[in-house]
Amino acid sequence: MPDLDSTTPATANRAVRITHFGGPEVIEVTTIDTPYPAADEVLVRVHSASVNPVDWKTAEGKYPPVGEDALPIVLGRDLAGTIAQVADSDWSVGDRVFAFIGQDRGAQSVFVCVKTSELVAMPDAIDFDAAAGSALAVMTAWQGLFDHGGLTAGQRVLIHGGAGGVGHMAVQLARWKGATVFATASGHDLDFVRNLGADTVIDYKNARFEDIATDLDMVFDTQGGETQARSFRVIREGGILVSTLDPDTAKAAEHKVRIVPRWHAEPDAATLGQVADLLASGALKVTVAKTFPLEQVRAAHAFAQDEHPRGKVVLRLV
Ligand SMILES: NC(=O)c1ccc[n+]([C@@H]2O[C@H](COP(=O)([O-])OP(=O)(O)OC[C@H]3O[C@@H](n4cnc5c(N)ncnc54)[C@H](OP(=O)(O)O)[C@@H]3O)[C@@H](O)[C@H]2O)c1
Repeated sequence: MPDLDSTTPATANRAVRITHFGGPEVIEVTTIDTPYPAADEVLVRVHSASVNPVDWKTAEGKYPPVGEDALPIVLGRDLAGTIAQVADSDWSVGDRVFAFIGQDRGAQSVFVCVKTSELVAMPDAIDFDAAAGSALAVMTAWQGLFDHGGLTAGQRVLIHGGAGGVGHMAVQLARWKGATVFATASGHDLDFVRNLGADTVIDYKNARFEDIATDLDMVFDTQGGETQARSFRVIREGGILVSTLDPDTAKAAEHKVRIVPRWHAEPDAATLGQVADLLASGALKVTVAKTFPLEQVRAAHAFAQDEHPRGKVVLRLV
């Protein structure tokens, strides 16, 4: 064990854990051992951790990277908090940080070991809820639009689900890059998405996006299914469909559209550092629809799945 520059915390390490796959009933809040940070890690006292669709997909056994052999596991992939222990790094106890972490650990836990390659300092301009709420969603949007999709200034992009966790980040990033942004959203979210910077917002329940957004360089798809299938028609020949879900290879070939094979967003402190600068300057804003105490994690999942929140749902651990 490395020399640690703070004593082991006395606070109980409450965590959201599953021991087997199933419905909401398998999600429990329990006390687990507090881990020790390895040389390339720090121990973070988590203030806020966000809720993402990957949480219930994992609990249901519908997230292929997490199989039965990985159980029990703690849920959650993004967090914000203060450093409680340092092993061998330049970080200090008390530093405010946020991170998108690997799936080998869970973020919805009072104490989490975070790799120094995953975390960055939290901008003073935002609070713990916004920082935690941003990380997975914004990294997905950034990696999808820019790293996989190569979006550049002047291109035309359609973003599906523009009011959702990933979508509300993607709209702002695409606009910041200088693209012309179309976005789909429900009627009650049209002004919200317009205010994020979308040039054209389409009420997908009352209009066909194909009638409004055409000749696109990119569709950023967060829906899959019929929405993705219809999206190939609005992309110019040689354009690209980037999906956060499975892309339809056969349809892509039929329409002469490029796709990115199934990908999962990856932790990367260098990119998150650029995001932190945008958050600090106000160029990027995180909307947190509602926060829940850790012990109400099942209610948080139900709210996120059933209540059509704008932006993010966040768990509070303090
Ligand atoms: N590959 C990856 O690394 C990765 C990373 C993050 C997320 N994901 C996946 O990406 C998906 C989106 O994640 P998220 O966190 O953004 O979820 P979310 O916060 O639930 O957002 C989904 C949004 O889609 C909207 N929507 C529903 N039906 C729609 C339709 N037919 N057309 C357009 N918009 C529609 C919803 O709004 P209304 O229902 O109010 O209309 C909601 O705003 C999830 O399936 C998630 O698992 C993948």
